[in-house]
Amino acid sequence: MVARYPRAYAILHWLIAALIFVLFAMQYVRRLFGEDAHAIVREWHKSLGLVLVALIVVRLVVRLVETMPPRFPDPSRLRTFGAHLVHAILWGLMIVVPFLGVAFLIARGRGVNFFTTMQIGPFTSGSAYWGDITINLHRYSAYALIAVIVLHAAAAFYHRIILKDDLLSRMAVASSSVDEKNQLVF
Ligand code: HEM
Ligand code: HEM
Repeated sequence: MVARYPRAYAILHWLIAALIFVLFAMQYVRRLFGEDAHAIVREWHKSLGLVLVALIVVRLVVRLVETMPPRFPDPSRLRTFGAHLVHAILWGLMIVVPFLGVAFLIARGRGVNFFTTMQIGPFTSGSAYWGDITINLHRYSAYALIAVIVLHAAAAFYHRIILKDDLLSRMAVASSSVDEKNQLVF
């Protein structure tokens, strides 16, 4: 029996993964539809970005209050170290990329809005210089995030296809429980 992440945590993991992919892809798909699509996509990107921020906060809370499964018993110390490193980088970029998106809006003197229901700011009169810096950092950190996600997903499928172990099932959206050793089981 494989120790699993709590169901709520696995749902958040996959929701966040899907949303990051949509937020990234929409910036490039819009270019196929010309300038008219730009304003609409920009609004959706910002508002869905705020939904992502809320999901990340909930994920952090669930991570702190729920019992997480023990470390995957991988015989390779190198793979274990690599997995820890990649997870730490994912957490860092998951927080930094949206932060830089918001920083860009503030630097350009634009407000932060959630569709048409909420608007806060603008907080500054706007600076082209800081706007350029923050949007470039937002873009390149987003590229880095996608690259690390590809590596992370490839590692998960390497476990499934080559090593033929249960690692991927740990993040399955299935009900889980805690056994007498306080380990999550399915
Ligand atoms: C197709 C895409 C993905 C696959 C197949 C995948 C698969 C997995 C699996 C199997 C685990 C459990 C690993 C273990 O228990 O050692 C895991 C954990 C994790 N995943 Fe993913 N994942 C994907 C996308 C993402 C994305 C987009 C992020 C966030 C940017 C992410 C962040 C994490 C983190 C941080 C962990 C460690 C547990 C934690 O601290 O939350 N994953 N993933
Ligand atoms: C992980 C989440 C996110 C990803 C992967 C992402 C990715 C991107 C990418 C690839 C671009 C295109 C940059 C370019 O080449 O021009 C972009 C632009 C932008 N992002 Fe994000 N972003 C995310 C979250 C956010 C958030 C939370 C906000 C703010 C609420 C935000 C605000 C913006 C803005 C204002 C632009 C410029 C839009 C435009 O003028 O079309 N992003 N983002």
